[in-house]
Amino acid sequence: MAYPYQVTNLEQYHSDYKKSIEDPEAFWGNVAENFVWRKKWDRVLDWNFTEPKIEWFRGGKLNITENCIDRHLETMADKPAIIWEPNNPEERVRVVTYARLHKRVCQFAQVLKNNGVKKGDRVCIYMGMVPELAYAVLGCARIGAIHSVIFGGFSAQSIADRLEDAQAAFIVTCDGAFRGNKDIPLKSIIDDALIGNKVVQKVIVFTRTRTPVSMLKGRDVWWEDEMEFAETQVEKDGVVSFPAEETDAEDALFILYTSGSTGKPKGVVHTTGGYMVWTNYTFVNTFQYQPGDVHFCTADIGWITGHSYIVYGPLSAGGTSLMFEGIPTWPDAGRFWDIVDKHKVNILYTAPTAIRSLMGFGTAPLQGKDLSSLKILGTVGEPINEEAWHWYNENVGKKKCPIVDTWWQTETGGVLISNLAGITDAKPGWATLPMPGVQPLLVDEHGKEVTQKDENGFYKGNLCIKAPWPGILRTTYGDHERCRTNYFATYENLYFTGDGAIKDENGFYRITGRVDDVLNVSGHRIGTAEVENAINMHAGVIESAVVGYPHDIKGQGIYAYVIFDKKHTDDDLTKKDILQTVTRIIGPIAKPDKIQFVKGLPKTRSGKIMRRILRKIAEGETQNLGDTSTLLDPDVVDEIKEGKI
Ligand code: PRX
Repeated sequence: MAYPYQVTNLEQYHSDYKKSIEDPEAFWGNVAENFVWRKKWDRVLDWNFTEPKIEWFRGGKLNITENCIDRHLETMADKPAIIWEPNNPEERVRVVTYARLHKRVCQFAQVLKNNGVKKGDRVCIYMGMVPELAYAVLGCARIGAIHSVIFGGFSAQSIADRLEDAQAAFIVTCDGAFRGNKDIPLKSIIDDALIGNKVVQKVIVFTRTRTPVSMLKGRDVWWEDEMEFAETQVEKDGVVSFPAEETDAEDALFILYTSGSTGKPKGVVHTTGGYMVWTNYTFVNTFQYQPGDVHFCTADIGWITGHSYIVYGPLSAGGTSLMFEGIPTWPDAGRFWDIVDKHKVNILYTAPTAIRSLMGFGTAPLQGKDLSSLKILGTVGEPINEEAWHWYNENVGKKKCPIVDTWWQTETGGVLISNLAGITDAKPGWATLPMPGVQPLLVDEHGKEVTQKDENGFYKGNLCIKAPWPGILRTTYGDHERCRTNYFATYENLYFTGDGAIKDENGFYRITGRVDDVLNVSGHRIGTAEVENAINMHAGVIESAVVGYPHDIKGQGIYAYVIFDKKHTDDDLTKKDILQTVTRIIGPIAKPDKIQFVKGLPKTRSGKIMRRILRKIAEGETQNLGDTSTLLDPDVVDEIKEGKI
């Protein structure tokens, strides 16, 4: 057995699950023994969901980078920690061994220190998918600074809001990022985000694309210069060292902003000890990781999936993590298969959207690609339709690779519900069973457990979790009350996920999608209120309402109903202007797929928009719109139906 806490058969899954629920402290205490602690914890778990207060491994002292790097040096210094596949397949691959990773992280930690970063400071990271992004993340962790990675698809305005919320004084970025045939000018976007900002002191810029950038004296410094100088500080007679800062198990490790049903994204805070144990445990168990396996998670480190299953999970397990800079369809739709073939990938973890989009190219791009190294496949981020599941199973896994459908969230830190590859059964479209330590509960709108089956023989309800697992969020940055109201106040003593689910007679769960005003577009979470706010910023827009509709590739598309103030003679141009506004306020990922101009929106007498009706119309439903008698002006519904696109 590669890891003492690895679940290796079905009986063990059931017995470990039972132990984890009956005595979570004993169970997780045992798992945590397998990590490096400077000082052991005084108490494994203390919690209540009312405040909420959740503490795992209280009093424990550690540094997560000692667990992700240093502890592997003795036996695995020359083993690859990160294999980096560049955007352009012609460019040189980089293999970062654990020894090299150690050196680079020490150097970068020194760079941060030289630039005035201290324990607890927030460092915003806005970079493309280069190994330096991993060094930056781990460098922060090494000195106890809190990283806040922002996905490269967010706009200057979004960055400005996040910088402000986190009061971040430091930024690490690149001149630009390559993505397919595009070159995204990251530093220039940062410059826009910093107009009027009085908090940021330093911007560290890594050279990737050689896009011209402006470097402000006193504020902006080059990564390369800083690293070169730091090298002389951390390396003496060939020995590299940068003492890792001692952090408390409950010290914040990072902030990651995510959308909710209100207008403003919230900064989900994860702490150190519990998150480490959870990402590691779920990584080795879900994917049944074996030392030496090459794990390819196709997510971006700007999202939680990248944090947990490119960086912290694989590295804390001494694994090899493949990091890919590009996109699945460039230079052609065979890119993933080329990468699998070239690097002999054993585990491929991607999003249903990517699978659906590659499915659209047929099987030709798979021809001649040797995928025989693949052992396990995974999906994440959104429900997977059966057609895509079977395509993945047959054409990629050749029917010999278990597929894990992993359900989790930014807030959960790691996988909560998933089959364990080859250990527990898979069921297409179903996330199946909870991880040890996870107690799901389906409730009705009053918070009462659903005990009656529906007409299809399933239990159906809103998905909650009864007790904390080590990777649960601890707060939302700077606003604990927001954390309470968002997740712990809907139902008493329960964590509410915002998702709906069904459960079958075997206790398997299928996640049916969000039940709040959050969209899941290509596996990315976007709040409808956020998109509406952005649309409403456009001069001429009086009001808007945004809903999701089923989209063949993206899972959900964004449908916007917009009331515009003057007679728009050029609908097309106005629509483009609105898209431009959304791109500027949030980023290209939030652009509506469809915009329909309307004269009015269906509202109740109290002024509340009846989204249910708009959703149905966007879905193509014209007949059963439900009760419209409470509407202020029922005629608007007909007008909207007629104008549907
Ligand atoms: O609706 C669920 C969906 O993605 C949401 C979480 O989004 P985010 O925080 O961005 O994290 C995505 C990556 C972990 C959930 O509330 N979701 C995630 N995984 C699945 C899923 N829906 C169905 N099946 C999944 N496997």
